[in-house]
Formats: sequence, structure tokens, C-alpha cells
Amino acid sequence: MSLRPILIHPDPRLKKVADPVSEITPELEKLADDMLETMYDAPGIGLAAPQIGVMTRLIVMDCVKGEDEAPRPMALFNPEVTWSSDERSTYEEGCLSIPDQFAEVERPSEVKVAWLDRHGKLQEEHFTGLWATCVQHEIDHLNGKLFIDYLGPMKRQMITRKMVKLKRDLAREKA
Ligand code: NI
Repeated sequence: MSLRPILIHPDPRLKKVADPVSEITPELEKLADDMLETMYDAPGIGLAAPQIGVMTRLIVMDCVKGEDEAPRPMALFNPEVTWSSDERSTYEEGCLSIPDQFAEVERPSEVKVAWLDRHGKLQEEHFTGLWATCVQHEIDHLNGKLFIDYLGPMKRQMITRKMVKLKRDLAREKA
């Protein structure tokens, strides 16, 4: 497994629609493992392939909270929301591609999601709570959408300006 660099917004690859997977190859399994390692290392609770510059419909997540609970690393290929609740809830969201910025986003409280697992088997699960928010946030990434796209233009521009500055500073550190 290897850590992959995470793209920082703004980046054109974060605004593109990712391509569906037709079959799970060993390369895609390796990609899923790299993404999980990268996510845990960050640390984060979710990561989508476009965030490491791979335009494939793959997300990974683990929203288990607390040290005493067993981790639940999940890799979802071609995830699709098949049902969402009318009830909505608000969470303070963040994103590994938008470091240190958080904002409240309202989404359906519960969703059902269908996907292919790493063995190519179709799975479906009903997600609630943080898992529901996380899976919707990650699927958005596959459609070129970021959580800041739910915010007003002023707030979005403010965050984007901070990220432009951050990228400039990071580039300077490397030089
Ligand atoms: Ni994100």
C-alpha cells in the first residue's frame, strides 16, 4: 500500500464527473487500499478517487467513532443513492481537499446506497447519522461537487481564496 497525495481545491480534477468502473481489477483493489491508507493517515473519515486525481467512481470511508469500536473500512465502487429520506439534518462538514475549513451543510438524514464491493458483488445498505452525511459527501465528489458548493457565494469565495493562498504557501515550502 502507498500514500497518495491529496489534491487541494481549487483543482479542475475536483470539478469533473468520474467514470464508472466496469470490472474490479487488481489495480482497482490496490487503488482502494491506497485510498484507505491515505484516508486513515490524513486522518479523515472519507475519501473519493478524484481527490487523489483518479477519475474513477470509487469512494472509501470509515465513520466509526471511538477507540474501543472496531474500524470498518469500506470501499464502494459505482456507489449510487437509491433512496433518500424527506427528513433532513445538518452537519458541520469538512473535506481533506479543503483543509481546516468547516461549514454546516443540510442533506437528507438517511439514504440507501447501492454499490459494487471489491469482489464485484452488488451491495446495498441503509445509512444514517454521520455515515449518511459522509457517503453523500463522497458521492458528490464523483460528480465534481464539493461541500462548499452548498454554501452561499460569499462564504464559498472566502474559503476558495484561503485555499489559493494555502496552495501558494505549500508550493513555496517545496521550492
Ligand atoms: Ni471531501
